[in-house]
Amino acid sequence: MPLNVTPSGQACGVTITGVDLRSMTDEVVSEIRQAWLDHKVLSFPNQELTDNDLEFFTRRFGPFGVDPYFAGIDGHPNIAAISRTAHETSALFAENWHTDWSFQEFPPDGTCLYGKVIPPAGGDTLFADQQAALAAMPVDLRARIENLVAIHSARGGYAPDGSYGDDDADDRSMQIRPSVEAYAIQTHPLVRIHPETNAETLYSALGYIIGIVGVNDDEAFNLLRELMTWQTRDEFQYRHVWQPKMLVMWDNRCLLHRATGGYDGHDRLLHRLTIGYNADVRGGVLDDERTATV
Ligand code: SIN
Repeated sequence: MPLNVTPSGQACGVTITGVDLRSMTDEVVSEIRQAWLDHKVLSFPNQELTDNDLEFFTRRFGPFGVDPYFAGIDGHPNIAAISRTAHETSALFAENWHTDWSFQEFPPDGTCLYGKVIPPAGGDTLFADQQAALAAMPVDLRARIENLVAIHSARGGYAPDGSYGDDDADDRSMQIRPSVEAYAIQTHPLVRIHPETNAETLYSALGYIIGIVGVNDDEAFNLLRELMTWQTRDEFQYRHVWQPKMLVMWDNRCLLHRATGGYDGHDRLLHRLTIGYNADVRGGVLDDERTATV
């Protein structure tokens, strides 16, 4: 049976029905993979999935990613609970635009997030299409970012003095494990070619990006702030509204995303897995070698 694919009508994102994610044929996996590449964010409502099913689904699209700074849930080291309790006072998790783990040498290709407890309102996830943002970018801004290499780090969030570090609120329900390893840096070009679609795209944003190679900090931050304003314009966004039992799968190689609040007084719980950097789809060429030229 062909997948039933309904576009969001926004910059990216589709809803897919007509499939049981627990029993996908190879053909269905290929169709879902193509839809993922075409639409960047896939939502599958009404999927009754156990943690084992989530692991099985994720592994159909690549290896598990390496997820630092989170403790996995019991018995499932590759599943993190993205949780917030009704009266938690900690700052909202992941409220800044980011691309998952862009501070790694080999960041995850994708992320899967499954809604378990969803508040009646609020808690949407926002996505920003970085292929669209680059395609529509003014020539002047494009010229200023061309060939720049960004410096990424997890320090702002996960170092002992980061937002989720030693001074974080005592009542954070998420099992975050800050570490001095978060001070490490990793470079990636700002503009790259997607390894599977060959589309040029911006990669990551201020937040995990803490500087630009060879550019002084003031100049780099001014440029990164200007870039961020462009990257997250409304016309590049998709607002995802959650339902319980909904699985969302997104492509980190061409998207930014962020969490939103607005559900104080209600619990929210999602299970998250990452699809790791998959050498099999890259033909031996690293993403950082796929830089765009105009
Ligand atoms: C995340 O960025 O991993 C979480 C997004 C969300 O909670 O909506």
